[in-house]
Amino acid sequence: PPAKKIKISQAIENRDHRVKVSGWVHRQRTQGKDMKFIVLRDGAGYLQCFLSGRLCHSYDALTLTLESTISVYGIISELPEGKTAPDNHELRVDYWEVIHKAPGGDDAFTNQLNSEADPSVLYDLRHLVIRGENASAALKVRSSVLKSFRDHFASKDLTEITPPSMVQTQVEGGSTLFSLQYYGEMVYLTQTAQLYLETCLPSLGDVYTISESFRAEKSHTRRHLSEYTHVEAEMAFITFDDLIETVEDMVCDVVDRTLADPKISQLVYQLNPNFKKLERPFMRLDYKDAIQYLKDHNITKDDGTFYEFGEDIPEAPERAMIDKIGKPVFLCRFPAEIKAFYMKKCVDDRRVTESVDLLMPTVGEIVGASMRITDLEELLEGYKREGIEPTPYYWYTDQRKFGTCEHGGFGLGLERFLAWLLNRKTVRDCCLYPRFTERCAP
Ligand code: 4AD
Ligand code: MG
Repeated sequence: PPAKKIKISQAIENRDHRVKVSGWVHRQRTQGKDMKFIVLRDGAGYLQCFLSGRLCHSYDALTLTLESTISVYGIISELPEGKTAPDNHELRVDYWEVIHKAPGGDDAFTNQLNSEADPSVLYDLRHLVIRGENASAALKVRSSVLKSFRDHFASKDLTEITPPSMVQTQVEGGSTLFSLQYYGEMVYLTQTAQLYLETCLPSLGDVYTISESFRAEKSHTRRHLSEYTHVEAEMAFITFDDLIETVEDMVCDVVDRTLADPKISQLVYQLNPNFKKLERPFMRLDYKDAIQYLKDHNITKDDGTFYEFGEDIPEAPERAMIDKIGKPVFLCRFPAEIKAFYMKKCVDDRRVTESVDLLMPTVGEIVGASMRITDLEELLEGYKREGIEPTPYYWYTDQRKFGTCEHGGFGLGLERFLAWLLNRKTVRDCCLYPRFTERCAP
């Protein structure tokens, strides 16, 4: 009978039919002279293929190597209980062909990946590493999480925008800017789309973007990339409380939407068997109380002194604190002098701002959010405090002239969100080809 060409994800619905499947040899095992089991991988799934009798005796069968590409033909059948095949289904091969043979011996795929423990070699070989079960699972979940964010924002009537990446303005501090030549002029790679999102409010209403941000981070950490995927949203006519609520609602809804797909849920638990759903509401902690928390728990600087009000809480103490607390925390109201120029000051305490970071256990900060300055004079002061020359920001400043409004928004680092969700050691394992200090390849 003719065979229908299918992807492995369609195997179950084609049970008892004759199909053709093409893919890569993921695993193989021979049993005696007359039986061969191949686990085939096509990116959509894994399928056990069973070859018997003369099919096992050919030269191709005897010399088949991992990662070779093959096409197999045969009937899909359900296996009896107790057999271990992916999804408990098997393709009984009646014909097969080799499309391309991968090298065996010293050049074999597994040798390349296993012989070297050095992580930098694994990043060099990332194009092969992503064929592995865990690396590909993380990328599959990443795709699903992106879809969940888009579905979430659509459900809230936000409009998606795609802002430019080459810009003339710094937003999150000059020290992490990448610059490049632009027709003889120096411009930067964007650190955040926030300022553009703000300009869209009077035009498109509440907006979001999922786009790349760039930061020249000099330090090697588990959570810093030079290029990362930034989920950002901006909303008009909201309060600081609305903003915090919005972030909490989004994080929980995105987790729910992602886990609602049973295949994706399985991958999440494969990577993070101890994953627990979030409990609402999240804890809130003012920055000034966090400073006290660090003192009370004897979390100090390297020189043994305490962090004081007005100082930035770096990654290490932040993580020590959040891991002790063990659940999500909104860290609120940071002092103006350690935060960006655009942040609105609190009405009841002008030293601090309507700003909030969402911290997650194992990662720390995954979201940075704030209400924005609405008043023109206050914004001009903000530029001055940060030593920013206002001229190239004229279009941003104009928002405070042509119908200003209370507004705020946030940025979430997609790789940090995934590192938390999937319990990965580093954000580098949560993107396709990570960019970090000294690495821009493959
Ligand atoms: O806290 P950040 O710098 O805030 C902003 O850029 C705001 N303008 C966002 C906004 O309000 N629209 O960055 C936001 C988030 C961080 O919480 C973190 O998750 C992520 O972006 N992030 C990074 N992720 C990976 N590598 C880096 N180097 C990152 N820098 C920031
Ligand atoms: Mg931040």
